[in-house]
Amino acid sequence: MLSVAVLISGTGSNLRALLEAAEDPDYPARVVVVGADREADGLAHAEDFGIPSFTVPYAHYATREEWGAELSAQLAVWQPDLVVLSGLMRLLPREVVDEWAPNLVNTHPAYLPEFPGAHAVRDAIEAGVPQTGASVIVVDAGVDSGPIVAQERVPVLDGDDEHSLHERIKPVERRLLIDVVRRVATGDLDLTSP
Ligand code: GAR
Repeated sequence: MLSVAVLISGTGSNLRALLEAAEDPDYPARVVVVGADREADGLAHAEDFGIPSFTVPYAHYATREEWGAELSAQLAVWQPDLVVLSGLMRLLPREVVDEWAPNLVNTHPAYLPEFPGAHAVRDAIEAGVPQTGASVIVVDAGVDSGPIVAQERVPVLDGDDEHSLHERIKPVERRLLIDVVRRVATGDLDLTSP
C-alpha cells in the first residue's frame, strides 16, 4: 500500500477526490497526512475523512528556506512514499525538492510546458487559445518544469472565464492524479524514469 502525503493551499477539491478514491479497498494507496501553507479551507476534507493534518504557515517564517525546512520535517514524521502537491501555491525551496524528489508530484491546470506558474488558467484565457489542459508532473527545482507523467487536453469554450474553465479542468486533473497515484502504487509508473 502506497502512503501519500498531500499538500494544499486552497479548497482542496482534488484532494477530496483522491481521498474518495482511496476509500475503495481495491485502490492501492492511502492518504496518511494533509499539509497546508495556511489555514486552507481544504483541510476540512482531511477532517471529514479522519486524516491527520498540519499547517506550516508561510507567513510565520523569515525565509522560504526556513518554511520549507519545517514543512519537510512535518512530512518526514509520516514517512510518505509519495508527496502530492495538489494546489499548493508556493514554490518549494530546492532543499525540499531534493529531499523528496522524484517521489514528489504536482497537478497543474494547463498542458505543460504551456502556461506554467500560478495563473495558468487566466493565462490561457488571456492568450485566446482554443484548448488548454491538465498535467501531472514530477516536481523539480524549476517552475512547473519537471518531467510530465500525465496530461490531457481541455477545450476552451466560447464565453469561458477563468472560473468556468478551471472548473472544467479540475475533473480532468482529478482523474489524472488518481490514475498517476495508482500507477505509482502498482509499479506501472516509475518516477525515477517517467
Ligand atoms: C488545481 O487546479 C491545481 O492544479 C492548481 O490549483 C488548483 C487547486 O484546486 N495548482 C496550481 O495552479 C499550481 N501551480 P483545489 O484546491 O480545488 O484542489
